[in-house]
Amino acid sequence: MAKKVTVVGAGFYGSTTALRLAEYNIFDEVVLTDIVEGKPEGLALDMNQSRSIEGFETRITGATTTAEGAGYDKTANSDVVVITAGLPRKPGMSRMDLIGVNAGIVRGVAENIAKHSPNAVIIVVSNPLDEMTALAQIATNFPKNRVMGQAGMLDTARFTNFVAEKLGVPVASVKTLTLGSHGDTMVPVPSRCTVNGVALSEKLSQAEIDELVDRTRNGGAEVVALLKTGSAYYAPSAAAARMAKAVIEDSGEVMPVCAWVDGEYGISGVYLGVEAEIGKVGIRKVVESALTDSEVASLKEAAEAVRAKQADVQTL
Ligand code: NAI
Ligand code: 2OP
Repeated sequence: MAKKVTVVGAGFYGSTTALRLAEYNIFDEVVLTDIVEGKPEGLALDMNQSRSIEGFETRITGATTTAEGAGYDKTANSDVVVITAGLPRKPGMSRMDLIGVNAGIVRGVAENIAKHSPNAVIIVVSNPLDEMTALAQIATNFPKNRVMGQAGMLDTARFTNFVAEKLGVPVASVKTLTLGSHGDTMVPVPSRCTVNGVALSEKLSQAEIDELVDRTRNGGAEVVALLKTGSAYYAPSAAAARMAKAVIEDSGEVMPVCAWVDGEYGISGVYLGVEAEIGKVGIRKVVESALTDSEVASLKEAAEAVRAKQADVQTL
């Protein structure tokens, strides 16, 4: 069976994700869409011309789409769809400031995707992430395991990078974890962080760990403040592409993602950043792991914060 992934939105996040997916050379086709006429086609043409240099056979197809659904036929029968359509934030804006405008975009995109790719696994990245993931599930009416959001992979990668830089060690020797929301109630989990298998608390003081946790929570805003015109996309696209790869390869990898939580950690009925096993069905299962009491309390606080906002998106 031909393997097909669609990336909706050919902005910075979408175009870098499409190229990463193509360079994996595991899909037959990567479809890149946008509402800006010619932009996805132009980017696809450019990416295809890199195939002989980078050595991948995956074809990239560009498709201009409209809100009414024109152009979506090119996305038909995708196995995985990554939704990046929407505005990014500007300096001083929170992710939540994007909710009104991005909800309209994500709802329309999700409805069109559901029509053309009724069996796809959806990976949402548009912000505010936890709310847009919940909205995509409502708009597609897909089973909850087939809709997930990308945040934890990115926030965890940021935490790992900060720890590695602080200690001057290879990133490969560092393991970190970040759960909760992709916002103010993000929950970096120091108790699960190690360097070459040694607890982070044996390498750094509590004050130093707190500083890295804070920097991780503000990781997106730090990049926005420097770029001034948009938000991060290299690390974010790496995160979303890895999730799509895990789906198409049915790998069973456990990753921190935004998933529907149904009883784990005593939390139910909300999309939240947790660890989950990823496969061709999307989320195979949420993996509950040992956290300290205060980390579980923070996770519950995050759940209540996003629950309230996720209820609001039903009407947006
Ligand atoms: P961008 O502005 O570069 O690209 C957004 C693209 O979406 C534009 O090309 C625009 O024309 C397109 N678009 C708008 N409406 C559309 C529709 N109905 N159908 C198809 N395309 C449509 O922004 P960027 O940097 O690519 O970010 C995209 C989103 O990803 C933003 O909401 C941003 O906040 C979010 N983001 C999420 C992260 C996460 O960890 N979850 C990390 C970084 C960004
Ligand atoms: C990020 O964390 C803005 O959500 C985006 O970079």
